[in-house]
Amino acid sequence: MSALFTPFTLKDVTLKNRIAVPPMCQYSATDGVPNDWHHVHYTTLARGGASLVIVEATAVSPEGRITPGCLGVWNDEQAAELAKIAKSIKAAGAVPGIQIGHAGRKASANLPWEGDDHIAEGDSRGWATIAPSAVAFGKHLPKVPKEMTKADIQRVMADFVAAAKRARDAGFEWLELHFAHGYLAQSFFSVHSNTRTDEYGGDFAGRSRFLIETFDAVNTVWPKNLPITARFGVIEYDGRDEETLAESIELTRILREKGLDMLNVSVGFSTWEAQIPWGAGFLAPVSRRVRAEAGLPVASSWGVASAQIAERCISEEDMDLVMIGRAMLANPHYPYALAKELGEDNPSWVLPAPYAHWLERYS
Ligand code: FNR
Repeated sequence: MSALFTPFTLKDVTLKNRIAVPPMCQYSATDGVPNDWHHVHYTTLARGGASLVIVEATAVSPEGRITPGCLGVWNDEQAAELAKIAKSIKAAGAVPGIQIGHAGRKASANLPWEGDDHIAEGDSRGWATIAPSAVAFGKHLPKVPKEMTKADIQRVMADFVAAAKRARDAGFEWLELHFAHGYLAQSFFSVHSNTRTDEYGGDFAGRSRFLIETFDAVNTVWPKNLPITARFGVIEYDGRDEETLAESIELTRILREKGLDMLNVSVGFSTWEAQIPWGAGFLAPVSRRVRAEAGLPVASSWGVASAQIAERCISEEDMDLVMIGRAMLANPHYPYALAKELGEDNPSWVLPAPYAHWLERYS
């Protein structure tokens, strides 16, 4: 048996293999409410054989959406539709996960295929953005956010807690806090976006405070027997990587001691000037280091889709789960292809019986 198709247990959740679908925004919701697109999309991915399907970045408040098409979990209507998706993912044989987050200064953007830039000032589809400091991301995201007051910080943390409760009650069994990709939490941590002089900025402790307090607050309402994880950009590729990585690993250790079960290792995306060394599996060595030095299970993604790379990432313990995104959009039954390529016994049975039986029967 390949390492990729071995089970993995975290708390009371056992994943049937090491292939997870990472959160991928569909930009297809109205007022944050999931619809038929989301339902079919997530059910299809779950039928494809991955052990865990994490629903896309789902905003904890309206202003926390990246675009007007992003999902939300700040009201009961959204939660009721998300519950149907969680149920459907589970019925298809995967564990239902969800990523909750707030887009901070990167919010109020056009859909990726309609520009991916900030919605123009004066356009009624846009909204005011908030962030630790009144510093714009720049380039295609020039909007200057409002610096958050302490009351804003408390409100957003309360929104995270309310969102986690709704996700829990909707039947999700795996929670991922979106602390990555230059969105609100990452922007508190990053020196590129946080110039505060109060206790939520400045040194490592100050820049970590929002993430730690948010984690603590959510952890009080998330069931103790289910995994609580975070996605975090541990590196920026901005020329000060050793410093950022050391701080990121230290923060991960602190969160682990407070109950974080797994880190989904990613890039910070806090500055458009970063020189990211794109390439198949480029984050694997970083992920390996976080796993070893922070001492907790890790997942990662970015081009780990080929059978050889995915298998190597697991067998050499660079990561505990591989998160395969775009290859699953191209072929939602991709785990079946991986199972065949890695010589698994009965590879069709990665898929549900109504497919597996026929694929096997005449082969
Ligand atoms: C993403 N990604 C992403 N990441 C995240 O943390 N939350 C999200 O909601 C999204 N949304 C999103 C949408 C789409 C369409 C894509 C393609 C990507 C990043 C994603 O989770 C993953 O890290 C990358 O796609 C890299 O993995 P692959 O595609 O190389 O396997």
